[in-house]
Amino acid sequence: MKKKQNLLLQPVLKWAGGKRQLIPQLEKFFPLKYTTYYEPFMGGGAVLFHLQPHKAVVNDFNEDLINCYKCIKDNLDELLEKLKYYETKNDATSYYKIRAIDRTDEYKNWSPVERAARLIYLNRTCYNGLFRMNSAGQFNSPFGSYKNPCICNEPVLKAISKYFNENEIEFRSGDFYDACVDAPKGSFVYLDPPYDQYEEQVNFVGYTKNGFSRDDQKRLKKMCDELIERGCYIMISNSKTKFIEDLYSDTTKYISYKINTVNARRNINSNAQKRGEIEEVLIVGKFEE
Ligand SMILES: C[S@@+](CC[C@H](N)C(=O)[O-])C[C@H]1O[C@@H](n2cnc3c(N)ncnc32)[C@H](O)[C@@H]1O
Repeated sequence: MKKKQNLLLQPVLKWAGGKRQLIPQLEKFFPLKYTTYYEPFMGGGAVLFHLQPHKAVVNDFNEDLINCYKCIKDNLDELLEKLKYYETKNDATSYYKIRAIDRTDEYKNWSPVERAARLIYLNRTCYNGLFRMNSAGQFNSPFGSYKNPCICNEPVLKAISKYFNENEIEFRSGDFYDACVDAPKGSFVYLDPPYDQYEEQVNFVGYTKNGFSRDDQKRLKKMCDELIERGCYIMISNSKTKFIEDLYSDTTKYISYKINTVNARRNINSNAQKRGEIEEVLIVGKFEE
């Protein structure tokens, strides 16, 4: 029998490329049975919170983000208390003061939970929920001027904390390759990397200081080949560019990929008029006996 879904489990952070709205289109491709769920590009975690697996390994290159999830798990009360304080700070002066803290020496002494609360506050109050860093690794998104941003979503935070504590969820922070190195046969690996850029796309500054190059996309494809060979179920989201379609058309006798088109609404384009429906791909990997 299918486990009852907890509808309170949902992303607590706004994340560029978040998959929440796409879930109804992804759903029919999820495997019905798997052992451990791996999500090496977790971001806001929309797919994890939808699937609610009992055993999962989640990872993101962004250490601040993973710290945030660890604090939701281990320091919920302190985190809620700090977020309640931040609820009184939805004005530009406070925002820029709090944003500037990572440019000071004082920030080095901040505890993990203080950092997590600041990240959630900035994420909920900054423009478009854009997690953007300058080359020195300092948060630099402008203030969003939202009337009533939900800074402390207590029911959702409590549900996430309970889910993390009552299940076997392991957090990692590093490159996707290392995160999946021990994925055993029968696991389901969902990969949602930073997308290959559409030719006409204005330059969206990457999630990490280093960005994600076409060589990284090739490295990812190589890892998928290895995981499929090992007997893992693979699903990859990406943009529908010629480069990606060509990359995953490169198959072997045993490994093949089915490229499905899905329609998404995206709003990372800085030109509001260019936001809207866009075709993306959902690639499903298969081992052919
Ligand atoms: C498209 S987002 C994932 C969105 C997520 N599926 C969601 O629903 O919110 C891509 C994520 O990959 C992370 N990332 C970038 N480079 C990475 C790397 N080399 N290894 C692991 N994660 C990386 C970014 O920090 C970002 O959170």
